[in-house]
Amino acid sequence: MAIVSVKNLHKRFGMQVVLGGISLEIAAGSCVVVLGASGTGKSVLLKHIVGLLKPDKGQVFFEDKRIDKLPERLLVDVRRNFGFLFQMSALFDSSSNIDNVAFPLIEHTRLPRDEIYAIAQQKLEMVGLPDVAQKMPAELSGGMRKRVALARAIAMNPKVILYDEPTTGLDPIRSDVINELILKLQRELQITSIVVTHDMNSAFKVADRLVMLHEGKIRFDGTPEEIRLSEDAVIKRFITGEAGEQELASLMRVR
Ligand SMILES: Nc1ncnc2c1ncn2[C@@H]1O[C@H](COP(=O)(O)OP(=O)(O)OP(=O)(O)O)[C@@H](O)[C@H]1O
Ligand SMILES: [Mg+2]
Repeated sequence: MAIVSVKNLHKRFGMQVVLGGISLEIAAGSCVVVLGASGTGKSVLLKHIVGLLKPDKGQVFFEDKRIDKLPERLLVDVRRNFGFLFQMSALFDSSSNIDNVAFPLIEHTRLPRDEIYAIAQQKLEMVGLPDVAQKMPAELSGGMRKRVALARAIAMNPKVILYDEPTTGLDPIRSDVINELILKLQRELQITSIVVTHDMNSAFKVADRLVMLHEGKIRFDGTPEEIRLSEDAVIKRFITGEAGEQELASLMRVR
């Protein structure tokens, strides 16, 4: 059964068409990786899924509920089902790590304070950071801060986690820690994961299915094995990271 789906999604900003008719059904418990060059609308797609952006045309569903027309006050309830690890993992710098993780629980539940902090500590342990509760985010490395942000994203036991470039800016080993965490949360919490990434190592490691956006459309939708065998030049270039004629021509103009 699909837990998240979008149907014929269209979105433009001014004259720029970003999504030109995207349809996607995401099965509960799966891990779908969304690929695409910078500016192809990956983050825009994630924002539609949680109702932070409204489509110009098309529909967005959570389970069997249509959400793209919901007013903000009803979207709040829908968003409780989602954890969002934003591209810039915005922790509150002036709050301790555990206060950061506790924040959604304080905002959205009426649990007693000691229970909230026990849950927050348990989430920090889940991401492998049992000892950072009283430290400030600034005292941690970039990779650790990402994990604190992930602990915060799972604080409310979401059904779906959206990861927007979770490994960007991390070295290969710290990236792999994040990959392992994505797999672990999926295994242990039966969470559905939607992962936007440019990092093909990470994509192949975590994906059950890969979807590639290109010029407002879905250019590829299939398994890791299928994408490796793809004969489509656009896809081949993307997964091997080679610049094509278009990119090289623009370099020539710069010179
Ligand atoms: N709120 C907005 N207002 C105007 N334009 C926007 C807005 N959000 C996104 N865009 C534009 O839509 C396009 C797609 O943006 P998006 O952030 O989804 O790209 P992306 O695929 O996530 O890229 P990256 O890999 O660099 O993060 C970009 O050209 C961006 O400038
Ligand atoms: Mg983005």
